[in-house]
Amino acid sequence: MTPLEEVFPVIMRMLVTAGPTREHIDPVRFISNRSTGKMGFAIAQYAAARGHAVTLIAGPVALATPPGVQRVDVVSACDMLAAVEKYLSTCDALVMCAAVADWRPRQVSAGKLKKRNMSPVLELEANPDILKTIRDRKNGRIFVGFAAETGDPRPEGRRKLAEKGLDLLVANDVAQPDAGFAVDTNRVTLLTADGEENALPLLSKLEVAEQIVAWMERTTRRAVPT
Ligand code: CTP
Repeated sequence: MTPLEEVFPVIMRMLVTAGPTREHIDPVRFISNRSTGKMGFAIAQYAAARGHAVTLIAGPVALATPPGVQRVDVVSACDMLAAVEKYLSTCDALVMCAAVADWRPRQVSAGKLKKRNMSPVLELEANPDILKTIRDRKNGRIFVGFAAETGDPRPEGRRKLAEKGLDLLVANDVAQPDAGFAVDTNRVTLLTADGEENALPLLSKLEVAEQIVAWMERTTRRAVPT
């Protein structure tokens, strides 16, 4: 950081999503994924400690709210979309770190289903893609997305960067035991809309958060007329 940046820090209003979503079949059963929310919570924690105003939309996770962070708890992908739509207008930057479930059961039972009455085939319908739903409302905001892949994450990362209107995509190979879900470390490649590619070494999730927030601060600073 240059001395000028220390005197005039960039302050962002950040909306961060984290964790999985849960798509209920009945009150006791659901479909979901392996996300634990650690990466998104690390981003919220680091950004708030840097002085940014952070709203964290969290799926069902077992993590404490980082100091200074406003937290909104949601369950399903549709809940998360509604919360993102509610808070989008109050933020300058969105970090979609959540592992949003792509599908939900077509029918949700209000009472517990009895196994003798259940079909072995679960009928699903598509959840909305949150980023694609809101991309027309971007209005100069920075959008950061994540891609969890098995194998080289860059080709799919580039596709998602373009399709979802992102400025930065954080791609990780979740097949590796020391990166991705449920661990405190991550190995990510940062892909930007400008065509830059930066493969980071194995880092703690807090260090990855530092890299992402630093990139967002640099990008915001470049956008501010001097
Ligand atoms: N995402 C989203 N809405 C969804 C699914 C994903 O906004 N319904 C966001 C994620 O938060 C992430 C990015 O899109 O920032 C990429 O998510 P990922 O699960 O890797 O991609 P998908 O679009 O679900 O594609 P696929 O399942 O084919 O890998």
